[in-house]
Amino acid sequence: MTPGRAVFAACSAALVGLVTACTAATGGAMGSGGAAPPPARGEPAAGDPRRSGYADMSAATQAMQRDDAANPAWLWVEDGRQRFAAQCARCHEVARMAGVAARHPAWDERAQRPFTLGQRIADCHERRNGGAPMLPEDDGRLALEMFVALQSRGRPIAPPADARLAPWRERGRALFVQRVGQLDLSCAQCHDAHAGRRLAGSLIPQGHPTGYPIYRLEWQGVGSLQRRLRGCLVGVRAEPLAPDGDDATALELHLVSRAAGMPLETPAVRP
Ligand code: HEC
Ligand code: HEC
Repeated sequence: MTPGRAVFAACSAALVGLVTACTAATGGAMGSGGAAPPPARGEPAAGDPRRSGYADMSAATQAMQRDDAANPAWLWVEDGRQRFAAQCARCHEVARMAGVAARHPAWDERAQRPFTLGQRIADCHERRNGGAPMLPEDDGRLALEMFVALQSRGRPIAPPADARLAPWRERGRALFVQRVGQLDLSCAQCHDAHAGRRLAGSLIPQGHPTGYPIYRLEWQGVGSLQRRLRGCLVGVRAEPLAPDGDDATALELHLVSRAAGMPLETPAVRP
């Protein structure tokens, strides 16, 4: 029996924003044992102007992320835990996954290109386990990615100092400032120049990839960073990036270098 599922049933109220009632009912049963409140992991650090999207959310959505018992993403974490035990544990110890998400995307020797964490997992799934190709939004890939990234929760994002990544990072930086779409806007115009302002009701965050994969209230489900970026590009009427394509990987490399040192929050909740 997975505690996540039972709690989820009790907590479906959380989905419509009744977080306080829900957390009170479960008494923090799955959290840190009931004693100290769990760390926020998205609060801005003193003296750092960078803000996680967490810092800009409503108190109710923040509470949902902070409390593992109320965070609907926990269903995927539990699924990922089971998949990892069945498909990965013969080669990997869970404890050795600590810190792995914080240093991805990383260079892959065989492919001679960077792999995001999701691509790395899909590669092991295909080549080591003979599985079918897994795209970014594949349920199994999201669950495994979430479980692996959870092992780095609270750790600072630490992009590797590998010179082979530099041209990719530069390509990502160029994409970030390039105007695209019918609205002729770049990522930087929204996330650097206009962060903190409102756009059609939603606050524009600084756009840091600190919590992926996330549970998004608007999706009523989990999604990858690539899905989030697709939403931004569709918003400006631009062509979405090819799933797992070079541009998507390059942009992710730029985003993690921009967010270096910020703590990972996976599994985050976003509006
Ligand atoms: C027109 C403004 C706009 C543009 C252009 C834009 N975004 Fe966004 N982006 C947003 C808004 C608004 C949100 C938050 C949406 C919400 O909460 O409903 C967001 C969310 C994000 C997030 C999620 C942050 C978090 O806390 O999880 C990331 C990452 C991001 N954008 C990256 C990008 C990148 C990379 C590009 C360029 C390819 C881009 N965005 C282009 C407006 C924009
Ligand atoms: C047959 C053994 C084997 C299996 C099964 C396997 N892997 Fe791997 N994995 C490896 C090896 C070997 C590496 C080192 C990189 C390489 O050569 O691909 C690796 C690398 C990784 C990394 C990067 C680790 C780091 O320190 O950067 C992750 C993450 C990972 N595997 C996840 C998974 C997941 C998730 C599964 C289950 C779906 C899985 N692997 C199944 C052998 C395996």
